[in-house]
Amino acid sequence: MKLGYGPAGAGLIAAALIAVAPVGAQAESSGRNLALSCFSCHGPAGKSPDSIPAINGKNKAFIVKEMIGFRDGKRKSTVMQRIAKGYSDAEIGSLAGYLATVK
Ligand code: HEC
Repeated sequence: MKLGYGPAGAGLIAAALIAVAPVGAQAESSGRNLALSCFSCHGPAGKSPDSIPAINGKNKAFIVKEMIGFRDGKRKSTVMQRIAKGYSDAEIGSLAGYLATVK
C-alpha cells in the first residue's frame, strides 16, 4: 500500500501548524508577541525615550493592576483605556509576565 500525502495528510499537517500557534500554549512567547504592539509607543523593548512611561522591568503585578485599571476606567488615561480593552485577563497576565523580564 502506498502512503502518500493526499488531502488527509495535508489536513493533518494543517492541524499540526494550528496546534503550534501561540494561543496561550507558551505564555512567555505569546507575551512577547503581544508586547510587540506596545513598543510602538512605549519604545523599543518598552524603554521609552520620551514622556510616555517605560514599561520594561516593572513588577508583573503592577502592570496587571494598571492595565486592568485602564480597561475598567479606574485609572484615567488618554489612550491606554482603548488599548487595554483589547486584552483579556489571561493576555494581560502573559504580557505583564514578559514585560517584567525585559531589562
Ligand atoms: C498609542 C500609544 C500606546 C500604545 C500602543 C500602548 N501604550 Fe501604554 N501608555 C501610553 C500612554 C500615552 C500612557 C500614559 C497614560 C495615558 O495617557 O494613556 C501609557 C501608560 C501605560 C502604563 C502605565 C505605566 C506607568 O508607569 O504608570 C502601562 C502599564 C502601559 N501603558 C502598558 C501598555 C501595554 C502593556 C501596551 C501594549 C498592550 C501599551 N501600553 C501600549 C501609550 C501607549
